Formats: sequence, C-alpha cells, structure tokens
Amino acid sequence: MNRRDWFRTTALAGGALAVNSVPGFSGSWYTPHPLDDLSLDLARLCYNENPYGPSKSAREAIMASFDIAHQYPFQYIQDFMKVLGDKHGVSPESIVVCGGSVEGLRAAGVAFCKPGGNLITLDPTYLSMMTYVSKMGTEIINIPVDKNLDHDLEKMASAVNEKTGLVFVCNPNNPTGTYIPAAKLISFLDKVSPKVPVFVDEAYFDYVDAKDYQTMIDLVKKNYNIIVSRTFSKVYGLAGMRIGYLVAKPEMASILRDRVQASASIPALKAAEASLADSEFYEFSKKVNREGREMISEACTKLGLEFVKPQTNFVFFKTGVDIKEFNERMRNKNILVGRAFPPFNDWCRVSTGKLTDVEMFVKALPQVLG
Ligand SMILES: Cc1ncc(COP(=O)(O)O)c(C=O)c1O
Repeated sequence: MNRRDWFRTTALAGGALAVNSVPGFSGSWYTPHPLDDLSLDLARLCYNENPYGPSKSAREAIMASFDIAHQYPFQYIQDFMKVLGDKHGVSPESIVVCGGSVEGLRAAGVAFCKPGGNLITLDPTYLSMMTYVSKMGTEIINIPVDKNLDHDLEKMASAVNEKTGLVFVCNPNNPTGTYIPAAKLISFLDKVSPKVPVFVDEAYFDYVDAKDYQTMIDLVKKNYNIIVSRTFSKVYGLAGMRIGYLVAKPEMASILRDRVQASASIPALKAAEASLADSEFYEFSKKVNREGREMISEACTKLGLEFVKPQTNFVFFKTGVDIKEFNERMRNKNILVGRAFPPFNDWCRVSTGKLTDVEMFVKALPQVLG
C-alpha cells in the first residue's frame, strides 16, 4: 500500500469508527500523523509541539537524574507536588502529577463518568477524554461550536441532566484556538459546577495574551467543584517526557490521584522542575511562538483566508480545500499539517513549530492553494 492509499484507508477507518464512538476521531492517542516519516526532515506542523525544547537546563536536569533513575518516583512526586502547590498558591494535596496531562484527563473520566451516564463537551475539541470514556459506555453529548467557533456555554449548561458525570471545557480550545473570557467561564462554572464537576483543560494557558483570559485555578482555591489540567508538553517543550498535572480541591484531587497509574518518571519530574525555574526559556518559547503565529496570520490575511486570531501554538484557518487533499499537497512540500476536524473539513490546524518551518509553510501556502 502506498502512502497515499494508506492515508485514505486510515481516514476511512477513522470515519467508520466515528459512527460508533467519537465523531471526528480518526485514531488512538498513539496514532502518528499518517503522512509522517521520521527518517525524513519534514516540517512537523501537525502536533502542536514546541521544537525549541527541552531547554538547556531541562536537558542538564535529565542527565543528572540518570543516577537515581533506578528508583521509583514516589518521593520525587511528593516533592514536586510541593513545588507546584507553591507555584499556584494551593496546598500540595491539591496537585495530581501524571505522565502527561492525558493521563489526568483519563483519570478524571474514570472517576466521574459511568456506563449509561453522559459527558458534555464541545465539538470539535481535544478528544482524548471522550475517546476513553465512550469505551466505558458513557454517552458523549457533543455541543457544536457557535458561529464564531466559540464554546456555546448556554447550550452546554442546559444539556446537563441527572445522568451527567462530567463537563469538559478546553480553554483555549484545540483545534479551533478560541478561548473563553474569564468572566463568561466563571459565570458558567457558578451555574454548572454545583450540579456536576467541570474539567477545564488549560494545556495552552501560557500562550494566551488576551487580557480577559484567566486561569480557573483561582476557583479551585475557592473550593469549586472543578478540575484544571496543565501540561509541560507545550511552552516547556517536554512533550516526549510525558508530564502534566491536575489541580483540584484536596478531596477531589485524592479521588483523582487514586486513579492515576501512568506516573511521571524521575527524568521527567526533574526536567519539569528545572523548566519551571528557567524563565528565560519560558519567555523565549512564548516569543518565538508569537512570531510564528503572526507569520501564519499575516499569510492568511494576505490570501484573504478566514482564521481564528491565535492565542495558542497553532492557527486554525479556512483553506476552502478538503483537508485530506490539503494535507497531501502540503506533504508534497515536505510539510505536515493537522488532520481533519469534522465538520470543519475545509479548515486546517497548523502548529507554529520552528520559525524556519513556519517560513516554509508560509511560502508553500499560496502555491498549494493556487
Ligand atoms: C487540549 C489538550 N489537552 C491535553 C493535551 C495532551 O497533553 P499531554 O502531552 O500533557 O498529555 C493536548 C495535546 O496536544 C491538548 O491539545
């Protein structure tokens, strides 16, 4: 089977799966981009990674951790809970460290969703939790984005019923890149979280410049019935190390901690701790990301393409071309872009990546659409 056929078959298989489980999902969390080939030097603008990481200090911390890597990480996790508690002004008992934030999403799904119950979420959004709980027999109630590709919070709130186990909110949202202003989200949480726990995924928190955006960790401090997730995979450039965490009130965090099995490794914990102390790399990551997304935004503007003003490390824009076709045309230019996010099949999510890769993309875009 050649690469083109493989892509078609994979996309078809994804379509069949979508009918039975999660709409728009085309593979497990482990599925690489079907056109990727690690032996080639491709511009990988499809994974929302930060190719400038890990920082030098994180690399040194990883190397130094080899001497203790024969140990289980239990005590180091306890220590890191204190570090994260101090960072966020919560007690260490409010922190749940996990092997990537997807593990935290899974743990929350397992803790609060039941077979025969339901989970309310936006469509399209980041699917990892829904993929997992749909296999447990939980119904996924998808609330489509509104005309501005924003969360339709009113519809999400009114979808809550006695069978709802959890509500999932991704802020900013992957793949659309839209964000919910703090006041709007707080009023939603005021209304919904007394009835049912709300999960707020803040994977892209660090990239947001909008003045009316805010973390919901402040509400955890006020004892809200919510769970906030963060990751070291984005601004800190540690996606391959697998480390993220949840923040929730202590009694809820304890329920979640009991359900986490994919723990962070000692090298990951040490890399994350060093990264938190490295403000220079953090600011650098944000700066290059801002430059990258501005270059992409300008290219879209020049070509008259509709796009979401980016607050993330990716840009969601309307190509007007079917995404499978657009993927293949970009792949012919050695560039990988994001997969299909139905029903936005003529839109594309492109990650920022290295600035040289973004330049390649910006140059290829008019050619590919011409
Ligand atoms: C919204 C969102 N949440 C969570 C994750 C997964 O993060 P992690 O690498 O910490 O598992 C991603 C990854 O792209 C994401 O986009």
